[in-house]
Amino acid sequence: MAVKIDGKMISAQIKDELKEKVAALKAEGKEITLAVVQVGNDPASTVYVGNKKKACAYIGIRSLAYELPEETTEDELLDLIQTLNQRKDVNGILVQLPLPDHIREDLVIRAIDPKKDVDGFHPQSVGMLSIGEKGFVSCTPAGIIQLLKRSGIEIEGKECVVVGRSNIVGKPMAMLLLRENGTVTVCHSRTRNLKEVCRRADILVAAIGKPKFFNHEYIKEGAVVIDVGIHRNENNKLCGDVDYDDVYPHVSAITPVPGGVGPMTIAMLMYNCVQAAEM
Ligand code: GUN
Repeated sequence: MAVKIDGKMISAQIKDELKEKVAALKAEGKEITLAVVQVGNDPASTVYVGNKKKACAYIGIRSLAYELPEETTEDELLDLIQTLNQRKDVNGILVQLPLPDHIREDLVIRAIDPKKDVDGFHPQSVGMLSIGEKGFVSCTPAGIIQLLKRSGIEIEGKECVVVGRSNIVGKPMAMLLLRENGTVTVCHSRTRNLKEVCRRADILVAAIGKPKFFNHEYIKEGAVVIDVGIHRNENNKLCGDVDYDDVYPHVSAITPVPGGVGPMTIAMLMYNCVQAAEM
């Protein structure tokens, strides 16, 4: 029987560890504060931001919410970031993406002080990761490493195939697997023979953004499958990039959707906030 990797349980474990750490820091007089900025009211973003604030409250991190109107100008947002950069009592700054079309995301990400970049999106954070130095790591791939480690799955020497090359998931995922001494292949929309490449994987990270794309034909017998996708199917039920039921009999371990990778993102954001305060 394949192991169903329980992201809900592992994320709860991490949050409880962080809660203790935050309490200890508080006892030394150190308070942690995360500024959460949302521009406009994209419904999905509102849900994500709400969950981030809830996690902060649970762990004992103070959250400052900035809910800005859709019409906010780029300059206004950059001014707010400058103010937050300068505030000594703010440890982390998170600007929820996507931003409205009239605001340039790359400029906003670059404006955040790298010491407060708890999302790990700043080019400095990305660069530090790629040269193997300490810095903030993008939360979803960092969470996947925790899922693997805490499930006792070894990465060293394994064939790891990442499907998707986004700045937020695919690329940092590849860097992290490499740091753990995996042999890493990154696939994307122009990859030839995707099925064949995936069938080499001991660890397959599916981040293609297409519902139930990966069936058993993409899977080597006994592989570990990590599903980063999240979609609603025709019956409005959540599903991932992997056809879970079709793949399950062929894997040794797999993350479900929901309850796999999803809960880990916020746990690692909280981890980054604590790291920001300790630096
Ligand atoms: N939008 C979707 N995922 C994320 C995330 O991890 N961080 C931010 N800031 N925005 C997002």
